[in-house]
Amino acid sequence: MNPVLAELHEKARAVLDPVHYDFFAGGAGDEIVLARNEAAFRRLALLPRVLRGKGIRAGFPVLISPTAFHKLAHPDGELATARALDGTVLVSSMASTVPIADVVAAASGPVWFQLYLQPDFAVTEALVRRAERAGCAALVVTVDSPVFGRHRRDIEHGFHDLPAGLAAENMRDLAGVNGLRRIEMSAFTWEDVERLRSITSLPVWLKGILHPADAVLAAGHGAAGIFVSNHGGRQLDLVPAAVEALPAVVDAVAGRIPVVLDGGVRSGGDVALAVALGASAAGLGRPVLWGLAADGSHGVRRVLDVLRDEFEHVVAMCGGQLSRDMVVSRC
Ligand code: FNR
Repeated sequence: MNPVLAELHEKARAVLDPVHYDFFAGGAGDEIVLARNEAAFRRLALLPRVLRGKGIRAGFPVLISPTAFHKLAHPDGELATARALDGTVLVSSMASTVPIADVVAAASGPVWFQLYLQPDFAVTEALVRRAERAGCAALVVTVDSPVFGRHRRDIEHGFHDLPAGLAAENMRDLAGVNGLRRIEMSAFTWEDVERLRSITSLPVWLKGILHPADAVLAAGHGAAGIFVSNHGGRQLDLVPAAVEALPAVVDAVAGRIPVVLDGGVRSGGDVALAVALGASAAGLGRPVLWGLAADGSHGVRRVLDVLRDEFEHVVAMCGGQLSRDMVVSRC
């Protein structure tokens, strides 16, 4: 691992309350998927093309995937994350500890709003209006959570509530206890996605797609794009590594909508592999949390800078081109 990322992770582990560290680091069940997400990248190799001049690839195809409760990592919470963007997209979690309007106001890049559809449609609609008013550029509906994942580390610690003084601020004043409504999980259908699309002009992405048939349905139901994601190994501990699920989804979508990959991305090389396999961008979860816990906004920026530098280096080594035929297995 890049020494800067390793240093940030170690510092995060040292400064965080161990209960909160485990909340961020942990996964569902036996944490098989959590480990596989990273290991699967190490089983892939790239065959560079040569004598192609500089190639044409430009840009930095990385975004920050939504993660909850940034104030558990740093007192400035999502404000610190938002200040670090430098043009990178932040997908801000519905479960942020700073209201979405304040996140957008602090951001140095575009902000998208992640939400879970709520059983009470009025609550979903109120969240959408908050995101629109704040100036979010897109909605990302997370669809892999009909029920909460079972996180053994949290269960062992008895961690199920935010400490006093912290709250999921986007849920404030939507009725509920003390004006704070709890985020609820529930099983929804494609019709619910259509209903959401009918009340907003924002692009609606779907996050947490693994089956190619669902990717096709997503395109058919008007999703602006999808995230191939297993929620960082935090939902069902029986699914493939995210990058293992990517190629079949890319094939099924056949270019109709962009496909983002998240889960286990820890280097610019991982980003390059995801792009070579057909992803439009790669999303980062935990590395951003480690940067945030270690050094606030500066730590998040360092994570992004390291990945950008590594990615550009790999692309230059590959003749400015990344395509599926360049990806081979190590074994
Ligand atoms: C998440 N993730 C997540 N996803 C989402 O849609 N809404 C959320 O609120 C959260 N919250 C959350 C908290 C924590 C602590 C983690 C680690 C993850 C999942 C996240 O968006 C992403 O899919 C994974 O984190 C990507 O995997 P890596 O990069 O962490 O391996």
